[in-house]
Amino acid sequence: MLLYAIVVLMLPSLTCGKNPAIQVILNDKGLQYGKHAGTDWIQRNLKKVTLPEIGGSILGIDYTLSGIKIAKCDLPEPSVKLYPGATGVKTSMSGLSVALTGDWTTHLGIIHDGGTFDMAMFSVNVISVVELGKDTNGHLSVSSVSCDAQVGDVDIEFHGGASWLFQPFVDFFKGHISSIIQSNICPNVENMISNLEHHLQAMNVSIDVDQALTLDLSLTGLPIIDVSSLNLGLKGEFYSIKTHAEPPFEAQPFKLSEQQGYMLSLGLSEFTLNSASYGYYSAGIFKVLINDSMIPPFSPVHLNTSSMGRFIPQLPQMFPGLLMELQVYAREVPMFSIQPAAVRLGFQGAIKAFAIQRNGTKTPLFKLNADSKFSSKVWISNGKLTGSASMDNFTLTLVASEIGTFKTDSLEKIVKLGIKTVGLEKLNEKLKKGVDLPRMKHAQLVNSVLKVGVGFIALFSDAKVLLSDRGSNQQTNGPV
Ligand SMILES: *[C@@H]1O[C@H](CO)[C@@H](O)[C@H](O)[C@H]1NC(C)=O
Ligand SMILES: *[C@@H]1O[C@H](CO)[C@@H](O)[C@H](O)[C@H]1NC(C)=O
Ligand SMILES: *[C@@H]1O[C@H](CO)[C@@H](O)[C@H](O)[C@H]1NC(C)=O
Ligand SMILES: *[C@@H]1O[C@H](CO)[C@@H](O)[C@H](O)[C@H]1NC(C)=O
Ligand SMILES: *[C@@H]1O[C@H](CO)[C@@H](O)[C@H](O)[C@H]1NC(C)=O
Repeated sequence: MLLYAIVVLMLPSLTCGKNPAIQVILNDKGLQYGKHAGTDWIQRNLKKVTLPEIGGSILGIDYTLSGIKIAKCDLPEPSVKLYPGATGVKTSMSGLSVALTGDWTTHLGIIHDGGTFDMAMFSVNVISVVELGKDTNGHLSVSSVSCDAQVGDVDIEFHGGASWLFQPFVDFFKGHISSIIQSNICPNVENMISNLEHHLQAMNVSIDVDQALTLDLSLTGLPIIDVSSLNLGLKGEFYSIKTHAEPPFEAQPFKLSEQQGYMLSLGLSEFTLNSASYGYYSAGIFKVLINDSMIPPFSPVHLNTSSMGRFIPQLPQMFPGLLMELQVYAREVPMFSIQPAAVRLGFQGAIKAFAIQRNGTKTPLFKLNADSKFSSKVWISNGKLTGSASMDNFTLTLVASEIGTFKTDSLEKIVKLGIKTVGLEKLNEKLKKGVDLPRMKHAQLVNSVLKVGVGFIALFSDAKVLLSDRGSNQQTNGPV
Protein backbone atom coordinates (compact mmCIF):
# COMPACT_ATOMS: atom_id res chain seq x y z
CA MET A 1 0.00 0.00 0.00
CA LEU A 2 2.77 2.38 1.01
CA LEU A 3 4.69 1.48 -2.12
CA TYR A 4 1.59 2.15 -4.21
CA ALA A 5 1.19 5.58 -2.59
CA ILE A 6 4.83 6.44 -3.29
CA VAL A 7 4.47 5.40 -6.91
CA VAL A 8 1.32 7.50 -7.33
CA LEU A 9 2.97 10.50 -5.70
CA MET A 10 5.98 10.19 -7.96
CA LEU A 11 4.02 9.88 -11.20
CA PRO A 12 3.31 13.59 -11.75
CA SER A 13 6.95 14.48 -11.19
CA LEU A 14 8.02 11.77 -13.61
CA THR A 15 5.74 13.03 -16.37
CA CYS A 16 6.88 16.59 -15.71
CA GLY A 17 10.47 15.52 -16.10
CA LYS A 18 9.93 14.66 -19.78
CA ASN A 19 12.30 16.21 -22.25
CA PRO A 20 10.70 18.91 -24.35
CA ALA A 21 10.43 17.89 -28.01
CA ILE A 22 9.91 21.48 -29.11
CA GLN A 23 12.02 24.32 -27.76
CA VAL A 24 11.40 28.00 -28.36
CA ILE A 25 13.92 30.71 -27.56
CA LEU A 26 12.86 34.33 -27.76
CA ASN A 27 15.82 36.67 -27.53
CA ASP A 28 16.04 40.35 -26.78
CA LYS A 29 15.64 41.30 -30.45
CA GLY A 30 12.32 39.45 -30.51
CA LEU A 31 11.23 40.97 -27.23
CA GLN A 32 12.05 44.49 -28.43
CA TYR A 33 10.20 43.91 -31.70
CA GLY A 34 7.17 42.58 -29.80
CA LYS A 35 7.28 45.59 -27.50
CA HIS A 36 7.49 47.98 -30.46
CA ALA A 37 4.50 46.38 -32.18
CA GLY A 38 2.60 46.28 -28.88
CA THR A 39 3.27 49.96 -28.13
CA ASP A 40 2.05 50.93 -31.61
CA TRP A 41 -1.08 48.91 -31.09
CA ILE A 42 -1.79 50.44 -27.68
CA GLN A 43 -1.14 53.94 -29.04
CA ARG A 44 -3.68 53.38 -31.79
CA ASN A 45 -6.31 51.91 -29.50
CA LEU A 46 -6.02 54.39 -26.63
CA LYS A 47 -8.71 56.70 -28.06
CA LYS A 48 -11.29 53.94 -27.65
CA VAL A 49 -10.64 53.69 -23.92
CA THR A 50 -13.07 55.17 -21.40
CA LEU A 51 -11.51 55.50 -17.97
CA PRO A 52 -13.38 54.78 -14.73
CA GLU A 53 -15.09 57.58 -12.87
CA ILE A 54 -13.24 59.57 -10.27
CA GLY A 55 -15.31 60.77 -7.33
CA GLY A 56 -14.76 62.26 -3.93
CA SER A 57 -15.61 65.04 -1.61
CA ILE A 58 -13.85 68.38 -1.27
CA LEU A 59 -14.97 70.83 1.45
CA GLY A 60 -18.26 68.94 1.78
CA ILE A 61 -19.01 69.13 -1.92
CA ASP A 62 -19.37 65.72 -3.60
CA TYR A 63 -17.90 65.68 -7.07
CA THR A 64 -17.73 63.14 -9.88
CA LEU A 65 -15.53 63.18 -12.95
CA SER A 66 -17.03 60.82 -15.51
CA GLY A 67 -16.90 59.89 -19.20
CA ILE A 68 -13.15 60.38 -19.03
CA LYS A 69 -11.57 59.83 -22.44
CA ILE A 70 -8.00 60.09 -23.62
CA ALA A 71 -7.79 63.07 -25.98
CA LYS A 72 -4.10 62.78 -26.68
CA CYS A 73 -1.36 60.55 -25.45
CA ASP A 74 2.16 60.30 -26.73
CA LEU A 75 3.14 56.94 -25.46
CA PRO A 76 6.89 56.96 -24.91
CA GLU A 77 8.34 53.60 -25.94
CA PRO A 78 8.61 51.71 -22.66
CA SER A 79 11.68 49.78 -21.65
CA VAL A 80 10.96 46.05 -21.59
CA LYS A 81 13.62 43.74 -20.22
CA LEU A 82 13.88 40.11 -19.34
CA TYR A 83 14.17 39.96 -15.59
CA PRO A 84 15.83 36.79 -14.33
CA GLY A 85 15.32 37.98 -10.73
CA ALA A 86 11.62 37.21 -10.97
CA THR A 87 11.74 34.71 -13.89
CA GLY A 88 9.84 37.35 -15.72
CA VAL A 89 9.71 40.62 -17.54
CA LYS A 90 10.18 44.15 -16.24
CA THR A 91 8.43 46.98 -18.05
CA SER A 92 9.10 50.59 -17.20
CA MET A 93 7.55 53.60 -18.77
CA SER A 94 8.59 57.09 -17.78
CA GLY A 95 7.66 60.60 -18.78
CA LEU A 96 4.19 59.73 -20.04
CA SER A 97 1.91 62.72 -20.65
CA VAL A 98 -1.81 62.36 -21.23
CA ALA A 99 -4.54 64.83 -22.13
CA LEU A 100 -7.98 63.81 -20.91
CA THR A 101 -11.48 65.18 -21.37
CA GLY A 102 -14.69 64.43 -19.48
CA ASP A 103 -17.68 65.69 -17.58
CA TRP A 104 -17.86 66.96 -14.04
CA THR A 105 -20.84 67.08 -11.68
CA THR A 106 -21.08 68.35 -8.12
CA HIS A 107 -23.67 67.81 -5.42
CA LEU A 108 -24.09 69.98 -2.39
CA GLY A 109 -27.25 68.85 -0.68
CA ILE A 110 -29.93 69.28 -3.37
CA ILE A 111 -27.88 71.67 -5.49
CA HIS A 112 -26.55 69.94 -8.61
CA ASP A 113 -24.13 71.49 -11.05
CA GLY A 114 -22.10 70.21 -13.98
CA GLY A 115 -19.96 70.87 -17.03
CA THR A 116 -16.96 69.56 -18.88
CA PHE A 117 -13.26 69.53 -18.10
CA ASP A 118 -9.85 69.16 -19.75
CA MET A 119 -7.13 67.53 -17.76
CA ALA A 120 -3.42 67.08 -18.42
CA MET A 121 -1.27 64.57 -16.55
CA PHE A 122 2.49 64.99 -16.72
CA SER A 123 5.48 62.80 -15.89
CA VAL A 124 3.60 59.62 -15.25
CA ASN A 125 6.02 56.77 -14.43
CA VAL A 126 4.99 53.13 -14.18
CA ILE A 127 7.22 50.16 -13.37
CA SER A 128 5.71 46.69 -13.53
CA VAL A 129 7.34 43.31 -12.98
CA VAL A 130 5.52 40.18 -14.10
CA GLU A 131 6.53 36.62 -13.40
CA LEU A 132 6.17 33.90 -16.01
CA GLY A 133 5.35 30.41 -14.87
CA LYS A 134 3.50 27.25 -15.73
CA ASP A 135 0.21 26.05 -14.34
CA THR A 136 -0.65 22.41 -13.60
CA ASN A 137 -2.11 21.95 -17.11
CA GLY A 138 1.04 23.18 -18.80
CA HIS A 139 -0.24 26.62 -19.75
CA LEU A 140 2.13 29.57 -19.62
CA SER A 141 1.02 31.75 -16.72
CA VAL A 142 1.67 35.42 -15.90
CA SER A 143 1.29 37.13 -12.57
CA SER A 144 2.11 40.56 -11.27
CA VAL A 145 5.04 40.62 -8.86
CA SER A 146 5.28 44.33 -8.29
CA CYS A 147 3.93 47.56 -9.65
CA ASP A 148 4.80 51.11 -8.87
CA ALA A 149 3.15 54.20 -10.34
CA GLN A 150 3.77 57.89 -9.91
CA VAL A 151 1.93 60.88 -11.35
CA GLY A 152 4.18 63.92 -11.49
CA ASP A 153 1.57 66.63 -11.84
CA VAL A 154 -1.96 67.27 -13.12
CA ASP A 155 -3.57 70.36 -14.44
CA ILE A 156 -7.35 70.74 -14.79
CA GLU A 157 -9.56 73.27 -16.51
CA PHE A 158 -13.26 73.21 -15.77
CA HIS A 159 -15.86 74.60 -18.13
CA GLY A 160 -19.56 75.38 -17.71
CA GLY A 161 -21.77 75.60 -14.62
CA ALA A 162 -20.25 77.35 -11.68
CA SER A 163 -16.76 76.34 -12.74
CA TRP A 164 -15.58 79.98 -12.63
CA LEU A 165 -16.23 79.71 -8.91
CA PHE A 166 -13.89 76.80 -8.13
CA GLN A 167 -11.39 77.02 -11.03
CA PRO A 168 -9.18 79.40 -8.98
CA PHE A 169 -8.89 76.67 -6.29
CA VAL A 170 -7.69 73.90 -8.64
CA ASP A 171 -4.17 74.06 -7.19
CA PHE A 172 -5.69 73.47 -3.81
CA PHE A 173 -7.48 70.20 -4.63
CA LYS A 174 -5.69 68.82 -7.71
CA GLY A 175 -3.35 66.86 -5.42
CA HIS A 176 -6.40 64.96 -4.23
CA ILE A 177 -7.40 64.04 -7.81
CA SER A 178 -3.82 63.24 -8.75
CA SER A 179 -3.45 60.83 -5.85
CA ILE A 180 -6.72 59.08 -6.75
CA ILE A 181 -5.44 58.61 -10.32
CA GLN A 182 -2.05 57.46 -9.05
CA SER A 183 -3.60 54.90 -6.70
CA ASN A 184 -5.72 53.60 -9.61
CA ILE A 185 -2.90 52.91 -12.07
CA CYS A 186 -1.43 49.79 -10.46
CA PRO A 187 -4.78 48.08 -9.78
CA ASN A 188 -5.54 48.64 -13.48
CA VAL A 189 -2.17 47.25 -14.56
CA GLU A 190 -2.76 44.25 -12.30
CA ASN A 191 -6.21 43.84 -13.78
CA MET A 192 -4.75 43.77 -17.31
CA ILE A 193 -2.23 41.16 -16.23
CA SER A 194 -4.93 38.97 -14.70
CA ASN A 195 -7.03 39.37 -17.88
CA LEU A 196 -4.04 38.18 -19.88
CA GLU A 197 -3.68 35.28 -17.44
CA HIS A 198 -7.34 34.33 -18.01
CA HIS A 199 -6.73 34.33 -21.76
CA LEU A 200 -3.70 32.10 -21.34
CA GLN A 201 -5.68 29.71 -19.13
CA ALA A 202 -8.43 29.51 -21.73
CA MET A 203 -6.03 28.74 -24.56
CA ASN A 204 -5.87 25.19 -25.78
CA VAL A 205 -2.49 23.58 -25.29
CA SER A 206 -3.66 20.80 -27.61
CA ILE A 207 -4.33 21.58 -31.24
CA ASP A 208 -6.22 19.19 -33.49
CA VAL A 209 -4.18 19.06 -36.68
CA ASP A 210 -6.51 16.80 -38.63
CA GLN A 211 -9.23 14.27 -37.89
CA ALA A 212 -6.71 11.75 -36.60
CA LEU A 213 -4.07 13.72 -34.72
CA THR A 214 -3.82 16.27 -31.97
CA LEU A 215 -0.59 18.09 -31.06
CA ASP A 216 0.15 18.65 -27.36
CA LEU A 217 2.02 21.91 -26.86
CA SER A 218 1.91 22.12 -23.07
CA LEU A 219 4.98 23.38 -21.23
CA THR A 220 7.21 20.63 -19.85
CA GLY A 221 8.82 22.88 -17.29
CA LEU A 222 9.04 26.42 -16.02
CA PRO A 223 10.13 29.09 -18.51
CA ILE A 224 13.87 29.70 -18.24
CA ILE A 225 14.90 33.33 -18.33
CA ASP A 226 18.31 34.93 -18.41
CA VAL A 227 19.22 38.49 -19.32
CA SER A 228 19.23 37.80 -23.03
CA SER A 229 16.66 35.11 -23.70
CA LEU A 230 13.41 33.46 -22.73
CA ASN A 231 13.38 29.67 -23.23
CA LEU A 232 10.24 27.59 -23.36
CA GLY A 233 10.20 23.80 -23.49
CA LEU A 234 7.05 22.33 -25.02
CA LYS A 235 5.93 18.73 -25.04
CA GLY A 236 5.59 18.70 -28.84
CA GLU A 237 3.89 15.32 -28.95
CA PHE A 238 1.27 14.18 -31.44
CA TYR A 239 -1.43 11.82 -30.21
CA SER A 240 -4.03 9.83 -32.03
CA ILE A 241 -7.37 11.44 -31.12
CA LYS A 242 -8.91 7.96 -31.13
CA THR A 243 -6.44 6.04 -28.96
CA HIS A 244 -4.39 8.76 -27.20
CA ALA A 245 -1.79 6.00 -26.79
CA GLU A 246 1.69 6.85 -25.53
CA PRO A 247 4.40 5.69 -27.98
CA PRO A 248 6.98 3.13 -26.84
CA PHE A 249 9.80 5.66 -27.28
CA GLU A 250 10.67 8.93 -25.56
CA ALA A 251 11.87 12.38 -26.48
CA GLN A 252 15.66 12.64 -26.26
CA PRO A 253 17.24 15.82 -24.94
CA PHE A 254 18.75 18.17 -27.51
CA LYS A 255 20.58 21.45 -27.24
CA LEU A 256 19.16 24.27 -29.30
CA SER A 257 21.58 27.14 -29.32
CA GLU A 258 20.03 30.50 -29.99
CA GLN A 259 21.17 32.26 -33.13
CA GLN A 260 22.10 35.88 -32.61
CA GLY A 261 20.52 38.21 -35.13
CA TYR A 262 17.23 36.34 -35.28
CA MET A 263 14.29 37.14 -33.04
CA LEU A 264 13.50 33.55 -32.25
CA SER A 265 14.90 30.07 -32.47
CA LEU A 266 12.72 27.01 -32.64
CA GLY A 267 13.88 23.42 -32.28
CA LEU A 268 11.82 20.42 -33.32
CA SER A 269 12.98 16.99 -32.20
CA GLU A 270 12.61 13.89 -34.37
CA PHE A 271 10.40 12.66 -31.53
CA THR A 272 7.66 15.05 -32.69
CA LEU A 273 7.69 13.51 -36.19
CA ASN A 274 7.82 10.00 -34.77
CA SER A 275 4.94 10.64 -32.38
CA ALA A 276 2.85 11.73 -35.39
CA SER A 277 3.91 8.55 -37.15
CA TYR A 278 2.95 6.50 -34.07
CA GLY A 279 -0.37 8.34 -33.79
CA TYR A 280 -1.33 7.44 -37.36
CA TYR A 281 -0.03 3.90 -36.87
CA SER A 282 -1.95 3.30 -33.64
CA ALA A 283 -5.12 4.72 -35.24
CA GLY A 284 -4.66 2.20 -38.07
CA ILE A 285 -4.25 4.85 -40.73
CA PHE A 286 -1.11 3.46 -42.40
CA LYS A 287 -3.26 1.13 -44.49
CA VAL A 288 -4.27 1.40 -48.12
CA LEU A 289 -6.16 -0.75 -50.56
CA ILE A 290 -4.76 -0.66 -54.07
CA ASN A 291 -6.82 -1.90 -56.99
CA ASP A 292 -6.35 -1.75 -60.72
CA SER A 293 -8.26 1.51 -61.18
CA MET A 294 -5.49 3.24 -59.21
CA ILE A 295 -2.75 2.00 -61.52
CA PRO A 296 -2.03 4.57 -64.24
CA PRO A 297 -3.21 3.36 -67.71
CA PHE A 298 0.33 3.72 -69.14
CA SER A 299 1.75 1.27 -66.60
CA PRO A 300 3.25 -1.86 -68.23
CA VAL A 301 1.85 -3.95 -65.39
CA HIS A 302 -1.74 -4.17 -64.26
CA LEU A 303 -3.33 -5.62 -61.19
CA ASN A 304 -4.75 -8.69 -62.82
CA THR A 305 -3.67 -12.29 -62.79
CA SER A 306 -2.77 -12.43 -66.51
CA SER A 307 -0.61 -9.35 -66.33
CA MET A 308 1.16 -10.68 -63.20
CA GLY A 309 2.07 -13.87 -65.01
CA ARG A 310 5.31 -12.16 -66.02
CA PHE A 311 6.44 -12.29 -62.39
CA ILE A 312 4.44 -15.19 -60.98
CA PRO A 313 4.13 -17.77 -63.80
CA GLN A 314 1.72 -20.08 -61.92
CA LEU A 315 -0.76 -17.27 -61.10
CA PRO A 316 -2.63 -17.00 -64.47
CA GLN A 317 -2.82 -20.79 -64.64
CA MET A 318 -4.39 -21.11 -61.18
CA PHE A 319 -6.62 -18.00 -61.41
CA PRO A 320 -7.01 -17.00 -65.06
CA GLY A 321 -8.31 -13.52 -66.01
CA LEU A 322 -9.11 -12.13 -62.57
CA LEU A 323 -8.56 -8.61 -61.21
CA MET A 324 -6.43 -8.30 -58.11
CA GLU A 325 -6.36 -6.13 -55.00
CA LEU A 326 -3.46 -5.30 -52.68
CA GLN A 327 -3.67 -4.46 -49.01
CA VAL A 328 -0.63 -2.41 -48.09
CA TYR A 329 0.07 -1.55 -44.45
CA ALA A 330 2.88 -0.63 -42.08
CA ARG A 331 4.24 -3.56 -40.05
CA GLU A 332 6.00 -1.26 -37.64
CA VAL A 333 5.83 2.44 -36.77
CA PRO A 334 7.63 4.28 -39.59
CA MET A 335 10.49 6.10 -37.86
CA PHE A 336 12.28 9.29 -38.78
CA SER A 337 15.91 9.91 -37.98
CA ILE A 338 17.17 13.46 -38.32
CA GLN A 339 20.86 13.86 -39.17
CA PRO A 340 22.69 16.86 -40.59
CA ALA A 341 23.28 14.94 -43.84
CA ALA A 342 19.63 13.99 -44.33
CA VAL A 343 16.30 13.26 -42.73
CA ARG A 344 15.79 9.52 -43.08
CA LEU A 345 12.61 7.50 -42.91
CA GLY A 346 12.40 3.73 -42.61
CA PHE A 347 9.16 2.13 -43.72
CA GLN A 348 8.59 -1.55 -43.02
CA GLY A 349 5.46 -2.52 -44.81
CA ALA A 350 3.58 -5.61 -45.87
CA ILE A 351 1.56 -6.32 -49.00
CA LYS A 352 -1.25 -8.86 -49.02
CA ALA A 353 -2.46 -9.80 -52.50
CA PHE A 354 -5.94 -11.08 -53.34
CA ALA A 355 -7.64 -12.26 -56.50
CA ILE A 356 -11.16 -10.87 -56.93
CA GLN A 357 -13.42 -13.74 -58.00
CA ARG A 358 -16.23 -13.06 -60.47
CA ASN A 359 -18.74 -13.37 -57.61
CA GLY A 360 -16.78 -10.73 -55.62
CA THR A 361 -15.08 -13.10 -53.19
CA LYS A 362 -11.49 -12.13 -52.42
CA THR A 363 -9.15 -15.09 -52.49
CA PRO A 364 -5.81 -14.60 -50.65
CA LEU A 365 -2.79 -15.25 -52.88
CA PHE A 366 0.42 -14.29 -51.10
CA LYS A 367 2.00 -11.90 -48.61
CA LEU A 368 5.20 -9.90 -49.16
CA ASN A 369 7.24 -7.80 -46.78
CA ALA A 370 8.24 -4.50 -48.36
CA ASP A 371 11.04 -2.64 -46.61
CA SER A 372 12.08 0.75 -47.81
CA LYS A 373 14.33 3.56 -46.75
CA PHE A 374 13.88 7.11 -47.84
CA SER A 375 16.03 10.13 -47.30
CA SER A 376 15.27 13.75 -47.81
CA LYS A 377 16.83 17.14 -47.51
CA VAL A 378 14.88 20.15 -46.38
CA TRP A 379 15.64 23.83 -46.54
CA ILE A 380 13.86 27.18 -46.72
CA SER A 381 13.77 29.10 -49.93
CA ASN A 382 11.71 32.23 -50.62
CA GLY A 383 10.00 31.83 -47.26
CA LYS A 384 8.78 28.35 -48.09
CA LEU A 385 9.79 24.99 -46.76
CA THR A 386 11.19 23.07 -49.68
CA GLY A 387 13.14 19.89 -50.13
CA SER A 388 13.79 16.76 -52.10
CA ALA A 389 13.26 13.11 -51.33
CA SER A 390 14.76 9.92 -52.68
CA MET A 391 14.47 6.20 -52.09
CA ASP A 392 17.68 4.61 -50.84
CA ASN A 393 16.64 1.03 -50.54
CA PHE A 394 13.72 -1.19 -51.32
CA THR A 395 13.38 -4.90 -50.81
CA LEU A 396 10.52 -7.34 -51.31
CA THR A 397 10.50 -10.67 -49.49
CA LEU A 398 7.90 -13.42 -49.85
CA VAL A 399 6.68 -14.38 -46.37
CA ALA A 400 3.59 -16.48 -47.14
CA SER A 401 1.95 -17.89 -50.25
CA GLU A 402 -1.20 -19.81 -51.11
CA ILE A 403 0.02 -20.31 -54.68
CA GLY A 404 3.50 -21.77 -54.09
CA THR A 405 6.81 -20.00 -54.09
CA PHE A 406 8.11 -17.52 -56.69
CA LYS A 407 11.09 -15.22 -57.17
CA THR A 408 10.61 -11.60 -56.13
CA ASP A 409 13.60 -9.85 -57.85
CA SER A 410 11.85 -8.72 -61.01
CA LEU A 411 8.68 -7.80 -59.11
CA GLU A 412 10.89 -5.81 -56.74
CA LYS A 413 12.41 -3.91 -59.67
CA ILE A 414 9.05 -2.98 -61.15
CA VAL A 415 7.53 -1.90 -57.80
CA LYS A 416 10.64 0.16 -57.07
CA LEU A 417 10.31 1.82 -60.45
CA GLY A 418 6.62 2.46 -59.74
CA ILE A 419 7.36 4.13 -56.39
CA LYS A 420 10.09 6.23 -57.97
CA THR A 421 8.21 7.36 -61.05
CA VAL A 422 4.77 7.81 -59.55
CA GLY A 423 5.07 8.39 -55.81
CA LEU A 424 8.40 10.15 -55.43
CA GLU A 425 8.06 12.26 -58.54
CA LYS A 426 4.78 13.69 -57.31
CA LEU A 427 6.23 14.25 -53.85
CA ASN A 428 9.29 15.99 -55.27
CA GLU A 429 7.13 18.25 -57.42
CA LYS A 430 5.31 19.32 -54.26
CA LEU A 431 8.54 19.70 -52.27
CA LYS A 432 10.04 21.79 -55.05
CA LYS A 433 7.07 24.14 -55.04
CA GLY A 434 7.39 24.30 -51.26
CA VAL A 435 4.94 24.59 -48.45
CA ASP A 436 4.19 27.78 -46.57
CA LEU A 437 5.60 28.10 -43.10
CA PRO A 438 2.92 27.91 -40.44
CA ARG A 439 1.32 31.27 -39.94
CA MET A 440 -0.75 32.71 -37.15
CA LYS A 441 -3.64 35.15 -37.40
CA HIS A 442 -1.58 38.16 -36.36
CA ALA A 443 1.99 37.13 -37.02
CA GLN A 444 4.11 35.63 -39.72
CA LEU A 445 7.66 34.29 -39.84
CA VAL A 446 10.10 36.17 -42.08
CA ASN A 447 13.84 35.79 -42.89
CA SER A 448 13.71 32.19 -41.76
CA VAL A 449 16.56 29.71 -42.08
CA LEU A 450 16.57 26.02 -41.33
CA LYS A 451 19.43 24.00 -39.92
CA VAL A 452 19.41 20.28 -39.44
CA GLY A 453 21.15 19.02 -36.30
CA VAL A 454 21.58 15.57 -34.77
CA GLY A 455 18.08 14.48 -33.81
CA PHE A 456 16.41 17.83 -34.39
CA ILE A 457 15.64 20.55 -36.90
CA ALA A 458 16.26 24.17 -35.91
CA LEU A 459 14.45 27.14 -37.38
CA PHE A 460 15.87 30.62 -36.84
CA SER A 461 13.55 33.40 -37.79
CA ASP A 462 12.30 36.92 -37.44
CA ALA A 463 8.62 37.60 -37.07
CA LYS A 464 6.35 40.18 -38.58
CA VAL A 465 3.23 41.31 -36.76
CA LEU A 466 0.26 41.83 -39.05
CA LEU A 467 -1.93 44.56 -37.62
CA SER A 468 -5.02 44.95 -39.72
CA ASP A 469 -6.65 47.88 -37.93
CA ARG A 470 -8.82 50.06 -40.10
CA GLY A 471 -7.66 53.61 -40.74
CA SER A 472 -4.03 52.81 -40.33
CA ASN A 473 -1.94 50.99 -42.85
CA GLN A 474 1.10 51.27 -40.67
CA GLN A 475 2.15 47.67 -40.85
CA THR A 476 4.96 47.22 -38.48
CA ASN A 477 7.69 45.70 -40.51
CA GLY A 478 10.38 43.56 -39.02
CA PRO A 479 13.17 43.29 -38.43
CA VAL A 480 13.74 46.68 -36.83
C1 LIG B 1 -10.31 24.11 -27.18
O1 LIG B 1 -10.59 22.79 -27.59
C2 LIG B 1 -11.92 22.39 -27.40
C3 LIG B 1 -12.04 20.93 -27.79
O2 LIG B 1 -11.11 20.57 -28.78
C4 LIG B 1 -12.84 23.29 -28.25
O3 LIG B 1 -14.18 22.93 -28.04
C5 LIG B 1 -12.62 24.74 -27.83
O4 LIG B 1 -13.37 25.60 -28.67
C6 LIG B 1 -11.16 25.11 -27.95
N1 LIG B 1 -10.96 26.44 -27.42
C7 LIG B 1 -10.25 27.39 -28.05
C8 LIG B 1 -10.11 28.67 -27.34
O5 LIG B 1 -9.74 27.19 -29.15
C1 LIG C 1 -10.88 0.62 -56.52
O1 LIG C 1 -10.97 1.32 -55.27
C2 LIG C 1 -11.66 2.53 -55.37
C3 LIG C 1 -11.55 3.22 -54.03
O2 LIG C 1 -11.42 2.33 -52.98
C4 LIG C 1 -13.10 2.28 -55.78
O3 LIG C 1 -13.77 3.52 -55.86
C5 LIG C 1 -13.11 1.57 -57.10
O4 LIG C 1 -14.42 1.22 -57.44
C6 LIG C 1 -12.27 0.30 -57.05
N1 LIG C 1 -12.15 -0.24 -58.39
C7 LIG C 1 -12.30 -1.53 -58.68
C8 LIG C 1 -12.11 -1.93 -60.08
O5 LIG C 1 -12.58 -2.34 -57.78
C1 LIG D 1 -5.34 -7.66 -67.52
O1 LIG D 1 -4.32 -6.79 -68.05
C2 LIG D 1 -4.09 -6.92 -69.42
C3 LIG D 1 -2.95 -5.96 -69.80
O2 LIG D 1 -1.90 -6.03 -68.90
C4 LIG D 1 -5.34 -6.64 -70.19
O3 LIG D 1 -5.10 -6.90 -71.56
C5 LIG D 1 -6.47 -7.51 -69.69
O4 LIG D 1 -7.70 -7.14 -70.30
C6 LIG D 1 -6.64 -7.37 -68.18
N1 LIG D 1 -7.63 -8.28 -67.67
C7 LIG D 1 -8.67 -7.90 -66.92
C8 LIG D 1 -9.56 -8.99 -66.44
O5 LIG D 1 -8.89 -6.71 -66.64
C1 LIG E 1 -17.25 -17.36 -55.40
O1 LIG E 1 -16.53 -18.05 -56.41
C2 LIG E 1 -15.47 -18.88 -55.94
C3 LIG E 1 -14.71 -19.44 -57.14
O2 LIG E 1 -15.56 -19.72 -58.18
C4 LIG E 1 -16.03 -19.99 -55.04
O3 LIG E 1 -14.97 -20.79 -54.55
C5 LIG E 1 -16.77 -19.34 -53.90
O4 LIG E 1 -17.39 -20.34 -53.06
C6 LIG E 1 -17.83 -18.36 -54.37
N1 LIG E 1 -18.38 -17.63 -53.21
C7 LIG E 1 -19.67 -17.38 -53.11
C8 LIG E 1 -20.07 -16.63 -51.85
O5 LIG E 1 -20.47 -17.74 -53.95
C1 LIG F 1 19.10 -2.62 -48.57
O1 LIG F 1 18.46 -3.55 -47.72
C2 LIG F 1 19.01 -4.86 -47.74
C3 LIG F 1 18.14 -5.75 -46.92
O2 LIG F 1 17.70 -5.12 -45.76
C4 LIG F 1 20.44 -4.78 -47.23
O3 LIG F 1 21.04 -6.04 -47.31
C5 LIG F 1 21.22 -3.78 -48.08
O4 LIG F 1 22.50 -3.62 -47.56
C6 LIG F 1 20.53 -2.44 -48.12
N1 LIG F 1 21.20 -1.54 -49.03
C7 LIG F 1 21.46 -0.28 -48.72
C8 LIG F 1 22.12 0.53 -49.79
O5 LIG F 1 21.18 0.20 -47.64
